[in-house]
Amino acid sequence: MACVLAIETSCDETAVAVVNNRRCCSNVVASQIPVHRRYGGVVPEVASRTHVETINETIAQALVEAQLDWDAIDGVAATCAPGLVGSLMVGLTAAKTLAIVHQKPFLGVHHLEGHIYATYLSEPELEPPFLCLLVSGGHTSLIYVKNCGDYEMLGGTRDDAAGEAFDKVARLLHLGYPGGPAIDRLAKEGNSKAFPLPEGKISLPNGGYHPYDSSFSGLKTAVLRLVQKLEQDNPDLPVRDLAASFQDTVVRSLTKRAIACALDYGLNTIAVGGGVAANSGLRKHLQAAGASHNLRVIFPPLKFCTDNGAMIGCAAAEHLNRGHISPLTLGVQSRLSITKVMELYDFSLSR
Ligand code: KG4
Ligand code: ZN
Repeated sequence: MACVLAIETSCDETAVAVVNNRRCCSNVVASQIPVHRRYGGVVPEVASRTHVETINETIAQALVEAQLDWDAIDGVAATCAPGLVGSLMVGLTAAKTLAIVHQKPFLGVHHLEGHIYATYLSEPELEPPFLCLLVSGGHTSLIYVKNCGDYEMLGGTRDDAAGEAFDKVARLLHLGYPGGPAIDRLAKEGNSKAFPLPEGKISLPNGGYHPYDSSFSGLKTAVLRLVQKLEQDNPDLPVRDLAASFQDTVVRSLTKRAIACALDYGLNTIAVGGGVAANSGLRKHLQAAGASHNLRVIFPPLKFCTDNGAMIGCAAAEHLNRGHISPLTLGVQSRLSITKVMELYDFSLSR
């Protein structure tokens, strides 16, 4: 039974948690949103520098909130891929240093595996196999979760990720950064049928469409053209209706693919992860669609949807329980397929 201190710095949150198996003991997130807001998006260099400034106090706070000292910690983990290289380096270096100083095993964790494991924090009894719909700022994936470290990619996006589409459309609507929560808020007051928008589809060489892959760049361009046209007539945009129409199109597209995929593969549970899993429209629509097909749909609490340390700690604890330990020579990688997670561990280190 492993208790892990875990660090997540793949993008713009400096996050540290202590997790005992699937139980979150503390979860501290030092958000950089106010720092990046003035630039309209994450500036990688600024993100790394801010992680350096914040990391030590965030680690200390996570231990204090967990009311644990180093004797109770069995391993130290950090996200090592994928993400912004400079940001990842800060968390990984801190975790390795703590592992050496306190003589604990060190584990590098794949960020997307963390998003999958966020579900276990609120549903500790859940066991694979299940389908994970992972929707974040960088990914839109349908992942067949077979076991700890054993994943198959069944669907993805050919262009923008779902969260990226939310952020770009929010910029078009002058809503600032981050765009997802702003669109979600406004969509609640808008008419989702006001503007019919095209759902992106991926054509197959022999006709028909890919059942699980998504595309959001055409939708984003359609919103851009619509905004340009509307602004010609009236500079006051109907932002609520635009937000609602856009969100509804994304939500329907994701729901259709996730349900089809689960049914085709005979998986009766869909676990949703990533920042876009916080979206109220997706939570409502996918829950309802799942119920009508006798599928269990699990959304983590909002604090575990967006980037956090607890999800990384939960994945790390599961690996540590299986004797998976990373070498201290492990580096960071800006890209790494989730199917390559086991390359991060060296079994000989646990003997
Ligand atoms: O998982 P996450 O925190 O970071 C990545 O790994 O990318 O996801 C961030 C993304 C951003 O694009 C943000 O706009 C989106 O999640 N997001 C939302 C909501 N909250 C965050 N998108 C739609 N509705 C929300 N409520
Ligand atoms: Zn993430």
